[in-house]
Amino acid sequence: MPNVVVVGAQWGDEGKGRIVDWLAEKADVVARYNGGHNAGHTLVVDGKTYKLALLPSGVVRGKMGLIGNGVALDPEALLAEIERMAALGVAVTPDNLMIAETATLVLPVHRAIDAAQETLRRQPIGTTLRGIGPAYEDKVGRRGLRVCDLAEPDVLSDKLDALLQHHNAWFRGLGLDTLSKDGMLQRLLDIAPAILRFAGSVWQQLDMAHAAGKRTLFEGSQAVMLDIDWGSYPYVTSSSTVPAGAASGTGIAPSRVGHVVGVTKAYATRVGEGPFPTEIHGGPGNLLRERGHEFGVNTGRPRRCGWLDAAQLRQSVKVAGIDTLALTKLDILDGFECVQVCVGYEIDGRFFDFAPPGLAAQQSAVPVYEQLAGWSRPTRGTRSLAALPPEALAFIRFVEAQAGVPVSIVTTSPERDDTIVASDPFDA
Ligand code: IMO
Ligand code: MG
Repeated sequence: MPNVVVVGAQWGDEGKGRIVDWLAEKADVVARYNGGHNAGHTLVVDGKTYKLALLPSGVVRGKMGLIGNGVALDPEALLAEIERMAALGVAVTPDNLMIAETATLVLPVHRAIDAAQETLRRQPIGTTLRGIGPAYEDKVGRRGLRVCDLAEPDVLSDKLDALLQHHNAWFRGLGLDTLSKDGMLQRLLDIAPAILRFAGSVWQQLDMAHAAGKRTLFEGSQAVMLDIDWGSYPYVTSSSTVPAGAASGTGIAPSRVGHVVGVTKAYATRVGEGPFPTEIHGGPGNLLRERGHEFGVNTGRPRRCGWLDAAQLRQSVKVAGIDTLALTKLDILDGFECVQVCVGYEIDGRFFDFAPPGLAAQQSAVPVYEQLAGWSRPTRGTRSLAALPPEALAFIRFVEAQAGVPVSIVTTSPERDDTIVASDPFDA
């Protein structure tokens, strides 16, 4: 049985949750492999809105959810989210959620470091301040705490000592308040049972699912342009957001990751700092923000808005091995007289069909646009390609030609069923 992985093809907030929700109908298992509660995945079903951060979006359909070892897991945030889901009528129990015992824990100390680092940076990144970056730093620094440590109080206590010794030296050196272990350890011991009831061997679960002929859907967080290796470094998140991250972040073999769906909006947004060549200040940018409700799910921050950057998309397709695209929020372009798509950049008088890595080059890149005709008949709520205005279809074909891969799914409103399926990724 083929698996599918859903990755963000831009700078995040492309509507991955919506696409995962749609695809989850045909999946047995939905697995998260990277990021933490910096993600904000929204789905709307029958007018009811579900905002997920750590839980795989498949839980809303009652599918088995897995949180892989590659996720940075804030135990408090997880428990709060499970409660919020319960209030919406979605029961999350050990029958439908498993957390990798080896997932990295995000602790209060990481939030404190995230805030301090952002204040100290000459050029802030504009992080979500959730402590995600510092938790991954500790993982790579080999001093991180993991879910399985919650089951071993002596190990937990020793590791917390070492962690705080390391970080308090930094806090002290900067004249900042240090953190004490006692309350932190006790709180972790108090909530340990509530977390450990979900802990298990995710890689084995995936192996069993494969052996039983079940389908797994991997739900990426963030996006290619926020990837630690492939994004506009240092304005990135701290994890591997690409399909390779699905393998290292869950224990599935790279050869079993399956069909890769890259999710892109019909325009572009970015939240936080960093290069964004097609950003529009004012005018149509404001219109896109208002019409697209472009405000962070988690942080409420207004997102920067601009035209679709097909040069960037082409690069994402290549480095993430995207097989087909899910094009979201097509309806937000309804009523624009013309639509611009960036096909490359001019930097120092030279044309580039990709973004060179240098920050100064990226910041000075002038987008080269192709102008396409807009459409006056709305696409909102359209459920078939044939029913789209010809100009909207021409826009889709143009994006396909630029990106070099076909569009498999188009969404025309936040509602689950306002979805056009050109080809089913699970049948690919
Ligand atoms: P989803 O999964 C959009 C951005 C932050 C910041 C940078 C680093 O909903 O698409 P971090 O807190 O991760 O260290 O912040 O990455 N960022 C996101 N932007 N969508 C997200 O997730 C994001 N997660 C992180 O704004 O620029
Ligand atoms: Mg989001």
